[in-house]
Amino acid sequence: MITPILLCGGSGTRLWPLSRKSYPKQFAKLMGDESLFQASAKRLSGEGFTAPMVLTGDPFRFIVTEQLAAIEQAASAIMIEPEGRNTAPAILAAALFLEAKDPEALMLVAPSDHVIPDEAAFRAAVQAAVPRAQGGELITFGISPDRPETGYGYLELAEGAGPQAAEPQKLARFVEKPDAARATEMLAAGNFLWNAGIFLFTAATIRAAYEKYTPDLVKGVRAALDGAQTDLGFTRLAPEPWAGIEDISVDYAIMEKADNLAVMPYSAGWSDLGGWDAVWLESGPDAEGNVAADRATAIGCSDTLLRSESERLQVVGIGLKDIIVVAMDDAVLVAHKSEAQRVKEAVSALKAKG
Ligand code: GDD
Ligand code: MG
Repeated sequence: MITPILLCGGSGTRLWPLSRKSYPKQFAKLMGDESLFQASAKRLSGEGFTAPMVLTGDPFRFIVTEQLAAIEQAASAIMIEPEGRNTAPAILAAALFLEAKDPEALMLVAPSDHVIPDEAAFRAAVQAAVPRAQGGELITFGISPDRPETGYGYLELAEGAGPQAAEPQKLARFVEKPDAARATEMLAAGNFLWNAGIFLFTAATIRAAYEKYTPDLVKGVRAALDGAQTDLGFTRLAPEPWAGIEDISVDYAIMEKADNLAVMPYSAGWSDLGGWDAVWLESGPDAEGNVAADRATAIGCSDTLLRSESERLQVVGIGLKDIIVVAMDDAVLVAHKSEAQRVKEAVSALKAKG
């Protein structure tokens, strides 16, 4: 059995004003009737999976339980991080928790804010990677790159490895978030895949990697777990040891250093919805390239996203091209699609205003 480890501590500022500090994008109904978190939990359920373990922050604990109940699921554990310390400590806490029960426990670590439309294909890819994970490798999932994106990790295939193979391939190297020049080089080289941010390994394998590359993190996280309190079914990591723990992602802490990496190529559709331009693309634009759902009307527009999250607001666009409009009760975003990545600047600017 595989235990899904759902990470949902991030804030997703590039999807403001829908994604808020108090209600980040993974919990919002960005695509369809379910939140991205609910879709992630469903994708990793059914045959071969145990109930998921969820790692999140205190403000989101009841959103998690309510959203799971709404899809008739319950978590096997909900672990509360006293403060966000990025993905490395969170994943380690899950690994130590599981290892205490079963060192060979398989963990499928997954972000809760991605779109993976083909559930069956994804589950098949996970299953195909199980034997190699059981054999002691750290399995990543690799996406064919189509642009020199600097916000992703890059996976360099070992010599002779196939970027489209149906089973895990050896990796030579993991490069997290390269600069634009390096990303362009890697795209041109043709033997790199993007890291999807999804990982499969056993609890003992990943714990051993942490021991090797960041032993201090193991001490700190173990102390936070030993001091954990359980209330209302939530496992609260102890704040004091947690406060001293390094803030670092698993990609930098482990993946860039490890020598037992493999990649399962995945080509059946994946997006991390890293901005409104990606939401526009994943929402299935009409023949004119527009996305205008309930309470939104496009007249003479092209390649434009119009969206109203407010029952009191109708959004009408006339003669627009490559524009994004997102209206909420208390905020409206109007942006050129090519500048969609700058939405995070809006969040900083508003914060500075107080
Ligand atoms: N529980 C918890 N605690 N979850 C967290 C925390 C934390 O402190 N920080 C981030 N997360 C969650 C986010 O909500 C998201 O679901 C996931 O962990 C990944 O974090 P991101 O902050 O979104 O990482 P990223 O997008 O910059 O980079 C990662 O994903 C890329 C693909 O989308 C890396 O793994 C890259 O290599 C990868 O290409
Ligand atoms: Mg991300």
